[in-house]
Amino acid sequence: MNPVVYLDNNATTKVAPEVVEAMLPFFTERYGNASSMHAFGGAIHADLERAREKVAALIHADPSEIVFTSCGSESDNMAIFGAVERLGRDTTIITTRVEHPAVLQPCRELRDRGYRVIEVSVMADGTLDIDAYSAALATPGPKFVSMMWANNETGVVFPIKIAAEKGRKTRPDIKLGICGEHGGDPASIDFFHRVGLKYVSCSPYRVPVARLAAAQAALRNSK
Ligand SMILES: Cc1ncc(COP(=O)(O)O)c(C=O)c1O
Repeated sequence: MNPVVYLDNNATTKVAPEVVEAMLPFFTERYGNASSMHAFGGAIHADLERAREKVAALIHADPSEIVFTSCGSESDNMAIFGAVERLGRDTTIITTRVEHPAVLQPCRELRDRGYRVIEVSVMADGTLDIDAYSAALATPGPKFVSMMWANNETGVVFPIKIAAEKGRKTRPDIKLGICGEHGGDPASIDFFHRVGLKYVSCSPYRVPVARLAAAQAALRNSK
């Protein structure tokens, strides 16, 4: 049989063997519901909190800042609806035309509910139209920006550093989506916190930990 050459790691990757090994007991022996009152479930709750602490330590965050969800889509939805509710009805939501449906659908739902939503276009090569993005930032009132770090289909890396610099004057709340594999530059951290990176949503099975660490540290610095 011909060996499989898998070239779609941008969409998803194989789970690392050590992750499979670490998780196996929770599928086979320690499968209690972490929210249950009984000891069997209570033990799992302790494991869950330990995992939260470990993830937080790994990325220099506070455990209370780590929210485990079932997937990147749920994280995107939670962050977008949560942020916009906090910012208020006059918020302009800025995103890009090429976001994953996990971002575009909630934004369009918010447009149907009366919010102003700007989907910034991209250039012919899939990169961000910086002028259009700047124009969107120039709109009055609070702004919430949801931008992917790398596109899940084209692999194009978005200029987060530039996007953050552009936003410095208007200080929008920014959510960075790092669900797709990406070549993002961890040095962007200096720029993230100046404009207030408030949310990071990700699917860990595609995110190199070092880059997640940079993003999460930026999140903390923005406070
Ligand atoms: C950029 C991006 N955002 C969001 C998602 C949704 O993540 P999930 O499949 O974990 O719900 C994906 C999934 O491919 C993605 O690539």
